[in-house]
Amino acid sequence: MRKKIIAGNWKMNMTPSQAVALVNELKPLVANDDVDVVFCVPAIDIIPAMEAAKGSNIQIGAENMYFEEKGAYTGEISPEMLTDAGVKYVIIGHSERREYFAETDETVNKKILKAFEHGITPIVCCGETLTQREQGITIDWIRQQIKIAFQNVTAEQAASAVIAYEPIWAIGTGKVATSEQAQEVCAAIRACIAEVYDEATAAAIRIQYGGSVSAASAPELFAMADIDGGLVGGASLKPDFGKIVNYNK
Ligand code: PGA
Repeated sequence: MRKKIIAGNWKMNMTPSQAVALVNELKPLVANDDVDVVFCVPAIDIIPAMEAAKGSNIQIGAENMYFEEKGAYTGEISPEMLTDAGVKYVIIGHSERREYFAETDETVNKKILKAFEHGITPIVCCGETLTQREQGITIDWIRQQIKIAFQNVTAEQAASAVIAYEPIWAIGTGKVATSEQAQEVCAAIRACIAEVYDEATAAAIRIQYGGSVSAASAPELFAMADIDGGLVGGASLKPDFGKIVNYNK
């Protein structure tokens, strides 16, 4: 049985002091032992958020990481910086990074390999545009993103990974995918993992849905057979996140 994983993606929100206040506010609301709870926060918030989350079930993750060890890469965050701060999860290849910061399937693959090398679990993002959905190429597109992202990743590593299926048209738009649409793609992702690796790896890997997840939509989405939780943007900054995490109560 896969344990659900519900992660907040704060994006470029919350100063360090606001981060501490938000963690303190949400701490009592997100207690749910059935679920892994991760707050992926801006790099500068990681240490204060980690401090504030001590003693709770909240794990602090990062929103990005570079694929080199260290050196002359002004402005980047290295894997060792994350592990030294206690980070266990990192979002890789969010569609906003692909769109605004020129990330490609190839750089996503390099980052995933590097994260595993350092024992950090990547939350690997994939998703189609509205045009691609209308063209009927959603599944083909997602399969391609997954196959490239997981190149040279071992089965053991893949089994421990998290994939976030996030249709771009559903991100920040309030237009949540129906649970059937989300389930269809998440099932296709699992089938793709089974094809690349084996059934055991496919059965172990956790697949989230992301895109306008709310307290109202979470219970139905997370009840689908291949949806193992969510990656939540806007609603992760509000007390509503507690309701999302406690979708099963
Ligand atoms: P949203 O963002 O929940 O605000 O749509 C999700 C995401 O981009 O991870």
